[in-house]
Amino acid sequence: MKLLQARISEIKTINEEVFSMRLEFDNSFIFRPGQFIDIKVSEWDSPLLRRPISISRKISENEIELLIKIQGTGTKQMRKKMIGTEVDLIGPLGNGFYLDDLVKELPLLIVGGGIGIAPLKSLVNELKSRGYKNIDIVNGFRKEPYGKEGFDTFNYHEVDETKEGIFVTEFVENNLLNRPYQQVLACGPKPMLQILSKMFNEKNIPIQISMEEKMACGIGVCLGCAIKVKKDLFNYTYKKVCVDGPVFYGDEVIFDE
Ligand SMILES: Cc1cc2nc3c(=O)[nH]c(=O)nc-3n(C[C@H](O)[C@H](O)[C@H](O)COP(=O)(O)OP(=O)(O)OC[C@H]3O[C@@H](n4cnc5c(N)ncnc54)[C@H](O)[C@@H]3O)c2cc1C
Ligand code: FES
Repeated sequence: MKLLQARISEIKTINEEVFSMRLEFDNSFIFRPGQFIDIKVSEWDSPLLRRPISISRKISENEIELLIKIQGTGTKQMRKKMIGTEVDLIGPLGNGFYLDDLVKELPLLIVGGGIGIAPLKSLVNELKSRGYKNIDIVNGFRKEPYGKEGFDTFNYHEVDETKEGIFVTEFVENNLLNRPYQQVLACGPKPMLQILSKMFNEKNIPIQISMEEKMACGIGVCLGCAIKVKKDLFNYTYKKVCVDGPVFYGDEVIFDE
């Protein structure tokens, strides 16, 4: 983890809410799929807190791409930035997806929800470069689907939730639940992660979920991003999404009842 300066090298509109932003560094920038950066949005103090954004994919040794959904002040300000602007960031942060225990020959399921597809792009690229072929990918969107490039080299399905009248979790339940996956990897809204975790925990299939929480320091100091996790059979404790996550195993996380 380092405090770094990067230059905005490209900004592209994906749709009215989502845009991609490329950042170029002076030196190589090495990260693992699922890690994120914490960006200082404004040169002034508003907003004061940095904004956590996943590293969506590697463009070259010293250039990365982010996929950003406009939510509020910070992401609106990021959208207005110009190519060539210097940004101040901390990263790469967090643990990323755990890939070392996976077996190339056994099937994997990857599920994304909305802007949650961002870190899944680098995940899929990494698995492809390691020679994985047997991967089902399902991404769900409330509005018009986007960002299929990279996913569509595998068995890829997009769920247009509003048009089709089902959630991505229902698609998984109806079509994929009986496949012999070695693991499931997912990123998206909390309710999606909660439903998928329950579904696959019951089948004893490990599921890795990338969690989102509002963050303040991003480096494990403020406890702003703490989530409840199981300590043992009867007790719970807390872990920090910024340093212990954002990727957790689904049987560990205690979702709000
Ligand atoms: C590890 C991690 C990786 C992320 N990766 C991406 C990414 O790749 N692309 C992307 O677009 N976004 C990502 N996010 C979410 C992003 O950080 C927030 O959308 C952003 O900080 C909102 O800032 P804002 O100033 O625009 O909105 P604010 O004005 O701060 O908030 C606007 C609305 O969004 C809600 N909100 C803000 N932050 C979060 C959050 N972290 N989780 C849930 N709701 C939130 C607020 O409650 C409010 O309703 C990630 C978050 C985390 C924790
Ligand atoms: S954001 Fe401060 S501890 Fe995680």
